[in-house]
Amino acid sequence: MEFILILGAKSDIARALAIVYARHGYNLFLAARNAKELERFASDLQIRYQVEVRMKEFDVTEFSSHQLFFTSLNPMPSGTLFCIGYLGTLPASAKEITEIVHTVEVNFTGCATILSVVANEYEKKRTGFIVGISSVAGDRGRTSNYIYGSSKAAVSAFLSGLRNRLHPSKVHVLTVKPGYVRTKMTKDLSIPEKLTSSPEKLAEHIFRSQQKGREVIYSFRIWRLIMLIITHIPEKLFKRLSL
Ligand SMILES: NC(=O)c1ccc[n+]([C@@H]2O[C@H](COP(=O)([O-])OP(=O)(O)OC[C@H]3O[C@@H](n4cnc5c(N)ncnc54)[C@H](OP(=O)(O)O)[C@@H]3O)[C@@H](O)[C@H]2O)c1
Repeated sequence: MEFILILGAKSDIARALAIVYARHGYNLFLAARNAKELERFASDLQIRYQVEVRMKEFDVTEFSSHQLFFTSLNPMPSGTLFCIGYLGTLPASAKEITEIVHTVEVNFTGCATILSVVANEYEKKRTGFIVGISSVAGDRGRTSNYIYGSSKAAVSAFLSGLRNRLHPSKVHVLTVKPGYVRTKMTKDLSIPEKLTSSPEKLAEHIFRSQQKGREVIYSFRIWRLIMLIITHIPEKLFKRLSL
């Protein structure tokens, strides 16, 4: 009976992923703050896809509880998807110390601590997969979201290192770099419709890529090109742009 763990299961992208994995017959651990709010969603999945769904309380900033949280899951999930994120309240997030600390703790420190626990267990067993949702925002810092962006840059570097480390143990690590996705996180932003994806399309892309053992994906492909251009703009010009 194969289980996978979804961290940040109340996120819109995570819910779409839960549906895709359940549809393919995976049992689920749904981990979130106030996980009880997922009760209806969980029972819908159980009825519709005939899989087992268990809810788990999880706050990514409670770093010292991560080891116990993961090792008490029974059975140990064969794959872990990290979907937690905090964009911050702009522009305060770039100026207020508490906002900066919180953004980095949720996006990076929490991601690195829980996924290190997961990695240690998978490495011992020489099996498992990890999917981490980073962001195109991590590819280059911009005025509009550079605290969030720099925490995601750290996530991308962390996942790259983890992939290197775990390769000999046959543990697969997938880095996901979405562009804009229509979710709670972006609901108050004016984002270009043509460059915006749905959680459902992204979830399908992530599932296919994880099953194929891909390493780094942009979602969607156009974002790879956009970020290639953005990362090649000379700094002298880039600093004058308001992006
Ligand atoms: N939407 C986009 O355009 C976009 C683009 C690039 C990358 N991403 C990334 O995609 C992932 C999913 O985001 P989303 O778009 O689906 O946004 P979302 O619906 O706002 O999901 C973010 C989730 O993070 C959870 N979270 C925040 N702080 C937490 C904490 N301390 N402990 C546990 N969970 C916590 C939230 O939990 P609560 O429900 O309890 O608040 C929420 O469910 C994130 O990593 C995000 O950075 C999104």
